[in-house]
Amino acid sequence: MKQDMIVILDLGSTENAGLARQIRELGVYSEIHPHDITPEELKKLENVKGIILNGGENRIVGGSAVDITPELYDCGYPILAIDHPSARCDRTLAALPDVSVLKEFVFDTCQAKANWNMKNFIEDQVELIRRQVGDRKVLLALSGGVDSSVVAALLIKAIGKQLVCVHVNHGLMRKNESESVIEVFKNQLKANLIYVDAVDRFLGKLEGVADPEQKRKIIGGEFIRVFEEEARKLEGIDFLGQGTIYPDIIESGTKTAKMVKSHHNVGGLPEDLKFALVEPLKQLFKDEVRACGVELGLPSSMVYRQPFPGPGLGVRCLGAITRDRLEAVREADAILREEFEKAGLDKKVWQYFAVVPDFKSVGVKNNARCFDYMVILRAINTVDAMSATIERVDWDVLGKITDRILAEVEHVNRVCYDMSPKPPATIEFE
Ligand code: XMP
Repeated sequence: MKQDMIVILDLGSTENAGLARQIRELGVYSEIHPHDITPEELKKLENVKGIILNGGENRIVGGSAVDITPELYDCGYPILAIDHPSARCDRTLAALPDVSVLKEFVFDTCQAKANWNMKNFIEDQVELIRRQVGDRKVLLALSGGVDSSVVAALLIKAIGKQLVCVHVNHGLMRKNESESVIEVFKNQLKANLIYVDAVDRFLGKLEGVADPEQKRKIIGGEFIRVFEEEARKLEGIDFLGQGTIYPDIIESGTKTAKMVKSHHNVGGLPEDLKFALVEPLKQLFKDEVRACGVELGLPSSMVYRQPFPGPGLGVRCLGAITRDRLEAVREADAILREEFEKAGLDKKVWQYFAVVPDFKSVGVKNNARCFDYMVILRAINTVDAMSATIERVDWDVLGKITDRILAEVEHVNRVCYDMSPKPPATIEFE
């Protein structure tokens, strides 16, 4: 292993992720592991230079304090304990330690080297993936999103054609998105890629369905069924690759978190198709995943793409999806993205997209009355997607986008800009 490591044992503190980031900012790799890790498991991690315990108020579960495996105290690793022992429920959260305290612990006490960088991370992960997978096969659902693309590139580097990628085109992708997945992964990286054209199947299932939640359920459910069908056709698959990243794990709760919900990236496949998981990004934060993608040579349009909802354009073609409005939303979105890039807004604005509602308005085209759809443009900034403010887009840029949409997109006679912050509006319309 290339990198020294400081292990944070998860005693329930909500600040563990911040602590790991602080240590990584010092140039030393840090991972968070469950509090009940055994000495044997810890030794397998290799290059562990020290341990940090941080519990905070969540350390108390069901009235009793959670502690680490007692033998760990005698394993010889330097241990820094924050807020410990503090087996009292009325404690407030422990503050993160001062950076000088951390530095002293990491560099003086643990003698860790500042050798955390993406190149070393990738080398370590490649070795770990090869050890885990051996000569067996891994299956991966490759949507073309940041996380699945980076995990695919990493797995290709580690095991090449032992990775089988399945890309399902559900017809709700943005313009040229499926094409770029094929170009990058099949043509450039020579991946073993199965492309599934499921457009008619998805649009058929969605026909006449107007309720947003019902649409989401159909898209999510159908995706699993298509993926499952492909998985059943393949032989000798032992592993499922997943683009799980650290924030997914935090959302799902950990052993010591008060509310544990099931991992939203795992599951869905039937019992007889349960594979062992390969999740090489699960310790990374989003910006680190992007850096990993850049280091692996993925195009920046793929690595820095804005967030895109799982149900895709399906929740931006409002109400019951029709092919003409779906095409209109796809074309308008492509124009918006192109013009934002030209204006340098793509690097500034967090999320921007087009929506087409399911009603028409009166207009005039070629000296005749027309009755057509409208496109609503939305551009927002946010830190965590829980609240958002709108981007005050330059009037000329909006004018240019409007002109192009009205000239180039069929069935559209009106363009609006959404001025609403979240709350009370949400970012998406459905
Ligand atoms: P809202 O509309 O709730 O969106 O303000 C917050 C963020 O979540 C994205 N979003 C989704 N992502 N599946 C996803 O993977 C979904 O069903 C979904 N709905 C919303 C949205 O694009 C925004 O970034």
